[in-house]
Amino acid sequence: MPGKMAMIFGASQILWAVFAASQAFKIETSPEYKTLAQIGDSVSLTCSSTGCESPSFSWRTQIDSPLNAKVRSEGTQSSLTMDPVGFENEHSYLCTATCGSEKQEREIQVHVYSFPKDPEIHLSALLEVGKPVKVKCIVPDVYPFDRLEVELLKDDTVMKNQEFLEDMERKSLETKSLEVSFTPTIEDTGKSLVCRAKLHMDVSDSEESSPKERKTNKELQVYISPKNTAISVHPATSLQEGDSVTVTCSSEGLPAPEILWSKKLDNGNLQLLSGNATLTLIAMKMEDSGTYVCEGVNPAGRNRKEVELIVQEKPFTVDISPGHQVATQVGDSVVLTCRVTGCESPSFSWRTQRDSPLSGMVRSERTESSVTLSSVSFENEDHYLCTVTCRHRKVEKAIQVTLYSFPQDPEIEMSSLLVSGEPVTVSCKVPLVYPFDHLEIEIYKGETLMMSKYFSEEINIKSLENKSLEMTFTPTPEDTGKVLVCQAKLHVGEVESEPKQRQSTQTLYVNVAPTGTTVLVNPSSILEEGSSVNMTCTTHGLPAPKILWSRQLSNGDLQPLSENTTLTLISTKMEDSGIYVCEGINQAGVNRKEVELIIQVAPKDIQLTAFPSESVKEGDMVIISCTCGNVPETWIILKKKTEAGDTVLKSIDGAYTIHKVQLEDAGVYECESKNKAGSELRSLTLDVKGRENNKDYFSPELLVLYCTSFLIIPAIGMIIYFARKANMKGSYSLVEAQKSKV
Ligand SMILES: *[C@@H]1O[C@H](CO)[C@@H](O)[C@H](O)[C@H]1NC(C)=O
Ligand SMILES: *[C@@H]1O[C@H](CO)[C@@H](O)[C@H](O)[C@H]1NC(C)=O
Ligand SMILES: *[C@@H]1O[C@H](CO)[C@@H](O)[C@H](O)[C@H]1NC(C)=O
Ligand SMILES: *[C@@H]1O[C@H](CO)[C@@H](O)[C@H](O)[C@H]1NC(C)=O
Repeated sequence: MPGKMAMIFGASQILWAVFAASQAFKIETSPEYKTLAQIGDSVSLTCSSTGCESPSFSWRTQIDSPLNAKVRSEGTQSSLTMDPVGFENEHSYLCTATCGSEKQEREIQVHVYSFPKDPEIHLSALLEVGKPVKVKCIVPDVYPFDRLEVELLKDDTVMKNQEFLEDMERKSLETKSLEVSFTPTIEDTGKSLVCRAKLHMDVSDSEESSPKERKTNKELQVYISPKNTAISVHPATSLQEGDSVTVTCSSEGLPAPEILWSKKLDNGNLQLLSGNATLTLIAMKMEDSGTYVCEGVNPAGRNRKEVELIVQEKPFTVDISPGHQVATQVGDSVVLTCRVTGCESPSFSWRTQRDSPLSGMVRSERTESSVTLSSVSFENEDHYLCTVTCRHRKVEKAIQVTLYSFPQDPEIEMSSLLVSGEPVTVSCKVPLVYPFDHLEIEIYKGETLMMSKYFSEEINIKSLENKSLEMTFTPTPEDTGKVLVCQAKLHVGEVESEPKQRQSTQTLYVNVAPTGTTVLVNPSSILEEGSSVNMTCTTHGLPAPKILWSRQLSNGDLQPLSENTTLTLISTKMEDSGIYVCEGINQAGVNRKEVELIIQVAPKDIQLTAFPSESVKEGDMVIISCTCGNVPETWIILKKKTEAGDTVLKSIDGAYTIHKVQLEDAGVYECESKNKAGSELRSLTLDVKGRENNKDYFSPELLVLYCTSFLIIPAIGMIIYFARKANMKGSYSLVEAQKSKV
């Protein structure tokens, strides 16, 4: 404005210089008639003259009130500056210029107004859907307010319009406002609230005659206060130390509420934790228990929801291995281990239930402790207790050590050899077993259970014992090849656990004692000396019996000869005669068969002698004697040869005694030795020399003799009997004679 003034002022000077000489004295004002001056501005009124070299200017108001402005005159121009414009400047200002005697005067009307700021829109509250709200449009420091028109629009729709046509009692700046009430809807979002203020100043000759207008736009933001705040907890509100939990919060509202997670402190205050809908708490401690608050917050409000999280102390756990019970074999070693989880540095202690010495080596490191029992014995049969202390809490776990002994497979024993038809007792012994109150022994023959026993006696003293089961049965040959099974089951440890099992087997072999032994003699049991004989023995039994050929001695003893089936005697002699015994022998027994072998020998080595000589004198005694060799069953017949025939002489033991020999006794004597095998003859000639004596003639009878040297000499009466019998028949069977003797 001052620049513009200066330019106007400059142009007047130029005009004045060009036309001064020629023009009449005139004045002009700027502005010409009227001006609108805003209160507080700086406004200048200019009065310039033409046609006068050095005019004088004066300013006054029409009602002669003070100017309230500064006058500055220079050359052909004078200005009145109101700085700042105030109500006292609302006047008609008169500029008077005097040039010599000439006087010129002009009037400028100054209208003041005030309309310095855009209207202000005020909302009584945040716009919430459905909640009535007051909108106020304030137009500050207005003058003259009777010219003010204010309207409120929502987008293009006028909500309210007002002209402030009130009386103005005094000049002052006033703030005018327009208020309207409305209930926002969600659709209002984004619409514009407009407050338009118009100051109607009808300054017709001014270029600024159109109403002064100011407006303010406010975009509508409609809110929905947070509601339906909800919390979801994963995994649970009840937790254990060390757990993690995720709590998620949601809240509805417009704009979408901001989520705030806080924890309620003991004093009720909230401690902000997170501005995230999802809050994850990791490795929680007991102190983390409490009320967690979620707030959905937006400019329209807040809505909260609470959740109670409970963190419980995590119980540490103790595991004992190898289980709550362990069955250990006597002499073995066992390791009992106590393992802790959920405790950083536990302390361990071990004891037995009977409070006996631990008798084991304890080794502990960090979360694990173990007791090693080496070479377990009965004293170790106890409950072992592991006590773990952690954070003033104690947990005790027990493990029961039970013992068993079952070191060997059962032993099968038979009371005797298995012989068909002979009862046998089988014993199945389970040695060094413990505990025998849980022992079961079963005996099977093949698939068949023959016998079983469950030992359920009470154990009074702890010791290893041998337990056995006996069974008697009578084997048959069909049992051979079957398997005898002795199975022992020891139920140790837990009831439902599999029993320990051991078994032994024995394949049955049933023996059959030798029987039906027979001997086949080829060619015959009666033989001639020098011939050969084969005696073949057969027998039956299981296992196949072995054969033993023996000869029976006179005292009844047996002299073993051969183990071959066939006993061959080549070129037999008389001494080979006798009883031969074949024995079939196996483990199950002996079966024998006897055979008598008779070797027949032809007579030989007969001697016929005369005693004292073959030449004697009449009246002498002569003994003629016939002796046979060592051949049994031989007849001896002593004869005298005469012209009439042979005379058999009565001899005793093959000796014929002539007590007084006669001349007639001289002659040829013959001895015949005879048996089945043959005969032999001997003869001698007796010479008798004469002597005058009476002769005593002995007429010999039939006489038969056994050969004395070999056989028992029977009674004379018997001999006579046989002799007669022989005489009658003319022959004699030795074999028959023998038979009849027996
Ligand atoms: C909220 O948490 C999610 C995942 O946990 C993450 O991606 C996001 O940046 C977090 N926001 C804030 C504001 O922390
Ligand atoms: C048990 O049998 C074994 C042999 O198997 C023997 O050494 C031990 O002496 C026996 N014990 C008893 C108590 O009979
Ligand atoms: C006895 O047996 C053998 C062999 O088999 C045979 O050579 C011999 O002739 C037999 N002897 C008799 C007397 O049968
Ligand atoms: C048994 O027989 C074998 C051959 O068959 C023979 O060599 C052996 O001498 C015989 N033994 C006897 C004692 O006869």
